[in-house]
Amino acid sequence: MGKQHLTILGSTGSIGRNTLDVVARFPDRFRVHALAARNNVELLCEQIAAFQPALAVMYEAQAAQRLRAALPAKTRTEVLTGMEGLTEAARCPEVQHVISGMVGAVGLLPTYAAIASGKRVSIANKETLVLAGELMVRQAAETGSTLIPMDSEHNAIFQCLASPPGRELERIVLTASGGPFRDLPVSQFHGITREQALAHPNWKMGPKISIDSATMMNKGLEVIEARWLFGLTPERIEVLVHRQSIVHSMVEFVDGSVIAQLGLPDMRTPIAYCLSYPSRLPLELPRLNLAEVGRLEFETVDAEKYPCLALALHALAVGGGAPAALNGANEEVVAAYLKDAFHFTEIAVILKEAMAQLEICLAQPQAPSCLRTINTVEDAIAADQWGRNTAHSIIQKRVNTCC
Ligand SMILES: NC(=O)c1ccc[n+]([C@@H]2O[C@H](COP(=O)([O-])OP(=O)(O)OC[C@H]3O[C@@H](n4cnc5c(N)ncnc54)[C@H](OP(=O)(O)O)[C@@H]3O)[C@@H](O)[C@H]2O)c1
Repeated sequence: MGKQHLTILGSTGSIGRNTLDVVARFPDRFRVHALAARNNVELLCEQIAAFQPALAVMYEAQAAQRLRAALPAKTRTEVLTGMEGLTEAARCPEVQHVISGMVGAVGLLPTYAAIASGKRVSIANKETLVLAGELMVRQAAETGSTLIPMDSEHNAIFQCLASPPGRELERIVLTASGGPFRDLPVSQFHGITREQALAHPNWKMGPKISIDSATMMNKGLEVIEARWLFGLTPERIEVLVHRQSIVHSMVEFVDGSVIAQLGLPDMRTPIAYCLSYPSRLPLELPRLNLAEVGRLEFETVDAEKYPCLALALHALAVGGGAPAALNGANEEVVAAYLKDAFHFTEIAVILKEAMAQLEICLAQPQAPSCLRTINTVEDAIAADQWGRNTAHSIIQKRVNTCC
């Protein structure tokens, strides 16, 4: 069997680093063809030295210049930049498998390019599916691209389904850890600090997804992701809080049988399954010891504590460009929160206002068509941008009122 040639988009992030960790354990199975990141020159340089890819992409032009200067004179790695560089890395003819591990809506175009070129695509970048899930799945069916979910919950469901979901599947249950504030009463949310919001109890992840986990917007985005990956209507997707993050998700069949996928919270396990699917890699990692874990607990979601989950479910029900608009608004709000622009509890308040403005806009005949339907990637980008602009002006107004 020849080596599988990989492109890893977002190689310097948490998903990217874990993917390279798995790849490094199986040098006869995988060859890294391209690596891509935004501006982390130092780490990309180290990764290039270790994996000798033919191509490296730094999204930011200045960072690409710095990377070229930092590489040894005899390097065989070509350095590209910008969205063109990312899409080039995603559709290189030499590559069979693209890992979509960038954070945010910026992952949309390169992921689409990989799908359009018929590659196997492992998707961690859930934002792509939130923006344009229907379009991506349709495009994959046309080009023969295989989409493999890397998000641990969706990967669990993928593992539980021996065959694609058919009439025998009743529903799926996505588990949620509940994030760092699952035991904090809502009455004490005013005291939350940014450091606490970033400190996920079970998973080590990038800052954006960590904040999304604290608000549970992450679970909302995952419901949207699951809706398209598994072709299920929202009523057939349940969310359950499971604080131990051992049961990664479950499927229930028409006879009431439930199959769950279990494992320690370590992204290298779902990543390895994506890399080797349909076979499995003999991974030497700490193993699950259920006697040590002792208890597996499950609770329904406290809607008062996690209003962002309801906002995402509502956007899915509205359909069209609403999920993309919510995603854009959320990225803008989380980025501002990470810069300390407002308090944690304001995240949901601002997003709620953005969704209210979306509904007002949709009630008008002249609403932008991208908010009604997503037919192209450009529609998805425009709807996402609408959400960003709306959130930005709400944030500005709040900041001006406070000062
Ligand atoms: N981390 C997890 O365990 C986990 C689990 C499930 C799903 N996911 C999903 O996986 C995705 C990545 O999450 P993460 O936690 O790995 O994020 P992260 O640690 O913040 O890493 C983000 C990666 O994306 C790159 N990136 C950001 N903007 C870019 C741009 N404009 N062009 C090129 N590269 C860009 C970053 O490059 P620089 O380093 O140069 O900025 C970095 O490599 C997210 O969609 C998240 O929801 C993550």
